[in-house]
Amino acid sequence: MTVDLTVDLCGVRLRTPVLAASGCFGFGREMAGWLDLAQVGAVVTKSVSLEPRRGRPTPRMAETPSGMLNAIGLQNPGVEAFCATDLPFLAAAGATVVASLVGRSAEDFGRLAARLAGEPAVQLLELNLSCPNVEHRGEVFATDPGMAAEVVRRVKAAARQPVLAKLTADVTDLVAVARAVVDAGADGLTLINTLLGMAVDVHHGRPRLAAVTGGLSGPAIRPVAVRCVWQVASALPGVPIVGTGGVATAEDAAELLLVGATAVAVGTASFVNPRAVVEVAAGLERYLAAHGVRSVAELPALFKAER
Ligand SMILES: Cc1cc2nc3c(=O)[nH]c(=O)nc-3n(C[C@H](O)[C@H](O)[C@H](O)COP(=O)(O)O)c2cc1C
Repeated sequence: MTVDLTVDLCGVRLRTPVLAASGCFGFGREMAGWLDLAQVGAVVTKSVSLEPRRGRPTPRMAETPSGMLNAIGLQNPGVEAFCATDLPFLAAAGATVVASLVGRSAEDFGRLAARLAGEPAVQLLELNLSCPNVEHRGEVFATDPGMAAEVVRRVKAAARQPVLAKLTADVTDLVAVARAVVDAGADGLTLINTLLGMAVDVHHGRPRLAAVTGGLSGPAIRPVAVRCVWQVASALPGVPIVGTGGVATAEDAAELLLVGATAVAVGTASFVNPRAVVEVAAGLERYLAAHGVRSVAELPALFKAER
């Protein structure tokens, strides 16, 4: 049986529904020795800001049961260096590029979108409205429907590419935030970013991260991601969602696709196995064939919420 792995994400045709998640794949350069970037559904870049950022002090990562905490702090070379060096590299490698953007204000996001509007190598934009590793919690736009919507409005006024809004599960009413950004013009959603967490070195009486708190990722958060995708897909049918959180195998990806994701992204698993993103896609092809399903788009119809 032939299986069609391609998906349409906000009008962009992807070779596979398995993306490399932001911050876990750099700008593709380190990964190019392990896999063909043209075979990846899409490469979501590390979040890029107007100015270069040095990130938070070390230690910035700590392993936790079934996951990890990180407090990288949005280290990136800034949008001009991104356009001068990273983007040409990704384009030459044949990658489908989702540029992840981060700013301190709605205006910053608008300026970033305007800067990238003239870059044909960027196929989609993803707005990082949800990173927990920021000095001012006010920067977590996705905790407030009004602020999140304002960022999306500014971006949509300037952007040429379709726009994904990346939200956080660290809110009481995720559907309200999702509805606000979609009403403001977001073409799709990425669910979820890391969850705010903390770990303590009990032998030295210190936090394990220099920034004290950090973002929890990996298999530990997958049930939260599945719940979020299901809740939002049920409330806003037809809105494309990139399901993200703890995907390491084809079965993990299938879980998110069954509850309504259009595509999935692999984050932390790429640190364990740099080929995870292509191996999950290959496994998904076998999974679909084994279940007699011809395309990924057919999966949500197979999900039965009632037992
Ligand atoms: C080390 C690290 C850095 C990350 N950096 C970013 C980032 O710059 N922008 C962003 O939107 N998400 C970032 N994320 C979040 C991931 O893209 C993803 O949403 C999250 O880790 C959950 O997926 P996972 O469990 O597969 O890792 C980062 C995650 C990790 C582990």
